[in-house]
Amino acid sequence: MKSEKSNLFTPLKIGSLEIKNRIVMPPMDQYSAEDGFVNDWHLQHYAARALGGTGLVIVEATGVLPYVSSITDEDLAIWDDKYIDGLSKLVNAIKSNGAAAGIQIVHAGRKCESVKIDKIYAPSAIAFNDKYRTPVEMTQDDINEVIDAFVKAALRAKKAGFDIIELHAAHGYLISTFLSPLSNKRTDEYGKNRAKILEEILRKVREVLGKDYPIQIRISSYDWKEGGNTVKDFVEMLKPLEEDKLFDSINVSTGAVTSDGKIIPYEGYQIPFCRELKQYMKVPCIGGGLLTDPKMANMIIRNGAADAVYIGRELLRNPYWALQAARTLGIDVPFPRQYEQAKR
Ligand SMILES: Cc1cc2nc3c(=O)[nH]c(=O)nc-3n(C[C@H](O)[C@H](O)[C@H](O)COP(=O)(O)O)c2cc1C
Repeated sequence: MKSEKSNLFTPLKIGSLEIKNRIVMPPMDQYSAEDGFVNDWHLQHYAARALGGTGLVIVEATGVLPYVSSITDEDLAIWDDKYIDGLSKLVNAIKSNGAAAGIQIVHAGRKCESVKIDKIYAPSAIAFNDKYRTPVEMTQDDINEVIDAFVKAALRAKKAGFDIIELHAAHGYLISTFLSPLSNKRTDEYGKNRAKILEEILRKVREVLGKDYPIQIRISSYDWKEGGNTVKDFVEMLKPLEEDKLFDSINVSTGAVTSDGKIIPYEGYQIPFCRELKQYMKVPCIGGGLLTDPKMANMIIRNGAADAVYIGRELLRNPYWALQAARTLGIDVPFPRQYEQAKR
């Protein structure tokens, strides 16, 4: 799809999935689950953003292995079939309100804060900072267990009815720490080829989900630190995987791989990284960072700096952001029937 002719409300294809507009709610952990189960908070929170006109709603980081994968003990879980029922209710709450439904699946790695376990895992035994536990360096068996867990989690997500899954390979969680030279000091194959674990997960996930099931990856495309990853590193790591059609889109974030990265935030601050990556990739790239202004978001799409934008904290403030954006831009989009009179 040619992005220069698109606007914020032009439908976007991600693999076989068509999203009605270019507005994505990125995964945002609600820290509200008990024992990993979906509850009323999740149902209402996600339904509201769908009702508000968001094109793709991505459910927060959801753990693939008991507790070692949890960012906190209040995260959602997908490490057992018993979670499928609640997740499918969540899918229904999102889809029945007009949005496509995605879910981010995660292994927290060295940023696991669960108090239910005493060992945490990472490519190398380096703590995130002195407030976190020092992780155990993973063995091949540990790595195999993680790959298997992602595959099973992906299957459960498909079974629950999600339109797309997102592998969390950003923000210093497990996959991200393998990708970054700042946290991966291994001398084996997983150190020589830092994308090896990502590739192995994607290959197996693709195999079980089938070639048409949309798979998105989220990356920290820039580490904000000397010696860390840049967009160029990601182009090198991701191009061969894209060639093999192992993923259908990239959610382009930055940072949080180390706790001392020097981030310079401003409205749209991660868009330049998305724009740079997009020059090399064929799949759609989703960018954002502190976006609030519909005109700016629309301009980003029109200029082709991103194929879609993610609106995070602004959607927490205002679930109707997308509908209001359409009014601001003078673009005619359907409102929920009950809200038709608020259109003009
Ligand atoms: C409360 C909260 C929870 C978040 N949880 C996640 C998460 O589960 N997974 C993820 O990839 N990013 C997470 N993020 C980051 C957001 O997805 C997004 O990238 C970030 O907020 C920047 O976008 P914004 O400036 O539009 O908010 C979280 C952000 C917030 C504010």
